[in-house]
Amino acid sequence: MNILLLGSGGRECTLAWKMAQSKHLNNLYIAPGNAGTSEYGININVNPENFDSVKEAIDEYSIDCIVIGPEAPLVKGLHDDIKSDPKYNNVLIIGPKKEGAQLEGSKDFSKQFMKRHNIPTAKYQSFTLDTIENAYVFLEELKPPYVLKADGLAAGKGVLIINDLSEAKASLREMLEGKFGTASKKVVIEEFLSGIELSVFVYTDGKDYCLLPEAKDYKRIGEGDTGLNTGGMGAVTPVPFADTEFMNKISTQIIEPTIEGLKKDKIDYTGFIFFGLINVKNEPFVIEYNARLGDPETEVILPRLKTDLLEIFIASKNNTLSEIDIEFVDKYACTVMLVSDGYPGSYKKGHEIYIPKTDDSLMLHAGTKLSDDKVLTNGGRILAVTSFGESMQDALNTSYFNAEKIKFEGKYYRKDIGFDL
Ligand code: AMP
Ligand code: GLY
Repeated sequence: MNILLLGSGGRECTLAWKMAQSKHLNNLYIAPGNAGTSEYGININVNPENFDSVKEAIDEYSIDCIVIGPEAPLVKGLHDDIKSDPKYNNVLIIGPKKEGAQLEGSKDFSKQFMKRHNIPTAKYQSFTLDTIENAYVFLEELKPPYVLKADGLAAGKGVLIINDLSEAKASLREMLEGKFGTASKKVVIEEFLSGIELSVFVYTDGKDYCLLPEAKDYKRIGEGDTGLNTGGMGAVTPVPFADTEFMNKISTQIIEPTIEGLKKDKIDYTGFIFFGLINVKNEPFVIEYNARLGDPETEVILPRLKTDLLEIFIASKNNTLSEIDIEFVDKYACTVMLVSDGYPGSYKKGHEIYIPKTDDSLMLHAGTKLSDDKVLTNGGRILAVTSFGESMQDALNTSYFNAEKIKFEGKYYRKDIGFDL
């Protein structure tokens, strides 16, 4: 198969690494990719949000399958746009259509979906500027802290958790008046759930699904989970508290009702679903859905997947997903994200990166680019260093050993990934 992979982060570098091992792969193109993806395929200068350019690339490179990494093109309807032209009937698209992507693109849509299908999640209500007085009443009924969520995509910044009631009311008004642009013209207010979070992933064709390894990511910039939220500073899999009993609850109370819900609502869905979950006294609740894989969770879950990823994609096209036998590496995998000093605020780009050769860690590129033969920093998150181990600590030790040897100006990473497990 000729594959076109869209995106340029650590998630896409890992997808490229994994698909490059498939016996079904003919050519792999990555749009736009990074310095790391060019080791596994051919980077092409196409913006995933420019639908016409994506379609030109399908024609030019005789693409059989498109794998959409990030959420923005999904939520904007890239899948629908391609499929509106019958000439692409046979192109397999991994990633839902616009309606399914609303599970991530609209918090209000996803909360209504969960409510309709009895999927455990925090109690909530949605408001606009016209109903702000009712929102104040709802806030008064809730116990602090108050959780305010912009309805639409806000680059991971749209959720505020506030302790003080009057501050929550003031922030609510700011959001409804456009603090996050149109994304916060509607706001979901929800009950605060207290517990430990984990990420669970499935690949589905909207009828059957394959469960992938679960993971836990570390979103805050500072050690001990302090400071600003980032795209993710590290991840581990498996998650020790997600034992068989807890995973069974997740399957029966959350995953299966979600797939059934897609069927009942006639939402055509081919792609990954990322369940952002929280464990409240040993009961799983959904914090959010994403219509894609997580980053940096992908950097640990795909290395643990033994099964050929393209075989899974092909099975969904042939309606044989239920026959796929998913196999995992029975070890811990951990990743440590190296970032640029200043991230998630402002940071400099263009520093040369020295990456040592090693056999015991995967060096998965995120914000990097090639310039002549040099690898340069080109973003906030730079490299994810993934390793296996018989224990979580062994895996982390290997990643930290190799992370130490990577050199670029302003390198920073958290030294406490997995600290809470
Ligand atoms: P979201 O974008 O919905 O995943 O929210 C971002 C982060 O806010 C989550 O990863 C949680 O840490 C936190 N969060 C969101 N909703 C809640 C909630 N209802 N209770 C507690 N924490 C939450
Ligand atoms: N690691 C969280 C995300 O990808 O949204």
